[in-house]
Amino acid sequence: MSKFYITTPIYYVNDKPHIGHAYSTIAADVLARYHRLKGDQVFFLTGTDEHGKKIQNAAEAAGLEPKEFCDQNAAKFSLLWDRLDISQDHFIRTTDDQHKRGVGHILDQLKAANAIYEGDYEGLYCVGCERFLTEKELVDGLCPDHKKAPEMIKEHNYFFNLKKYLPEIARLIDDNKIKIIPEARRNEVLGLFKQDISDFSISRENVQWGIPLPFAPDHTAYVWVDALSNYITALGYGTDNKLFDTFWPADVHILGKDILKFHALFWPAILLALGQELSRKIVVTGFFTVDGQKMSKSLGNVIDPHGLVDTFGADATRYLLLSQFPFGHDGDVKATSFAVQYTSDLANGVGNLVNRVLAMTDKYFAGQVPVAASTQQDQINTWWERYHQAMANQAIDQALGVIKEVNAFADGYIDQEKPWSLAKTNDPKLAEVLFNSLTLIRQLGIMIYPFMPETADKIGRVFDSEWQDHALEQLIQAPIVADAKLGQCDPLFPRLVEAAKE
Ligand code: MSP
Repeated sequence: MSKFYITTPIYYVNDKPHIGHAYSTIAADVLARYHRLKGDQVFFLTGTDEHGKKIQNAAEAAGLEPKEFCDQNAAKFSLLWDRLDISQDHFIRTTDDQHKRGVGHILDQLKAANAIYEGDYEGLYCVGCERFLTEKELVDGLCPDHKKAPEMIKEHNYFFNLKKYLPEIARLIDDNKIKIIPEARRNEVLGLFKQDISDFSISRENVQWGIPLPFAPDHTAYVWVDALSNYITALGYGTDNKLFDTFWPADVHILGKDILKFHALFWPAILLALGQELSRKIVVTGFFTVDGQKMSKSLGNVIDPHGLVDTFGADATRYLLLSQFPFGHDGDVKATSFAVQYTSDLANGVGNLVNRVLAMTDKYFAGQVPVAASTQQDQINTWWERYHQAMANQAIDQALGVIKEVNAFADGYIDQEKPWSLAKTNDPKLAEVLFNSLTLIRQLGIMIYPFMPETADKIGRVFDSEWQDHALEQLIQAPIVADAKLGQCDPLFPRLVEAAKE
């Protein structure tokens, strides 16, 4: 059995979650569920990033103590993950005691490894990004992401000797020891090494809301050092170490392109300084824009993930968010496209197919599997090969592509074979056609499990109420049983008018 450790970014709690956060969390959940189904020992981590100036300011603006403010907003993330059926093994908060102790230990270790030195810093700081910016990065004097002028900061800091580790990190990325996908993002990182990269400050003198440096308690840890450490403190690094030996290194870190540099340079450097193995793979997701514009409160175009769950349900929301554009690319979402796609892919797609096949089985075979054998096994095996390959490469959109193909194939097969005509003439081929159709919906049900677990369960139970107890290979290989009585299938994707009425 292999282990699989997957993480999402930990989300800032300065505000409630939006669909960008939901997107990376759902993607990680799909991969975690796939690996669990395959029988791997999975640890799936998500959580919230709660320290630093940005959160401190947001709490102040809300008139709350930082911890109280964090409690309220962190709860909004975990509530949303519940509603979206996210199956994390642990939800870490950087204000957790275990994490704080772990970070203290890490800072001590970095100091002992001579990776830290003292110095003065003067530079431009963007609180939105929680990082120092160079003059060159500004556009019209503003941070290009937050459209705000950065603050000039001058303070005494502890610095991390990043330069010392850069040649080794460059080599590891070049050798694909640290994999970065998509390729364009990998090239972007390789390009960074050609520029002048400076050491980074690991402490802040004037930010109270943070973890104190053990060796200089009047400084707090720079929020990124605090945040990146979550990937190991969650496993007990620096405290009880319970899960660390089993799960480290991370197999996949999912993150957005805006935070790639922290994960591709800073994080490997910290791990090298700690003498730990490096994360194996960084999977970079793209950004949503809504109707061509950045999602922002002031533009009033923020799509509320709760609203999507209210209208479409958890499974459909998961599917709709992931299928807007190819995984790893940026993409624009039209607020109206969700309903159109729900109808075409789900209500008229999977939902209608399953419904149709089961209704015909009821009608022509009294709800029992007809006596026949699948004649499409080779085709099914080919789909699975492509599906596994896609999942192994975190090519979520390609796995979804296989699912769509199976669905379309099954629809086309039924339209072509016309079971209703075969029934009229008592044609013996009817049994074979329905056996094949049932096999196809069952296989489709297994394939959609990581994406739409509730729907998959409804389909799986038609054939076997304990289907989830079986390992994936067994499920794929086991044929449906002739003569078996099929269970009922709860409605899958009600048409939107009906859904709205509920
Ligand atoms: N707290 C840091 C991450 C620390 S990880 C050790 C942070 N948090 S964040 O809440 O601002 O953003 C987290 C992630 O949300 C982004 O990297 C990205 O994956 C996702 N998204 C935020 N806005 C997004 C879109 N508009 N579209 C898609 N995803 C985006 O950065």
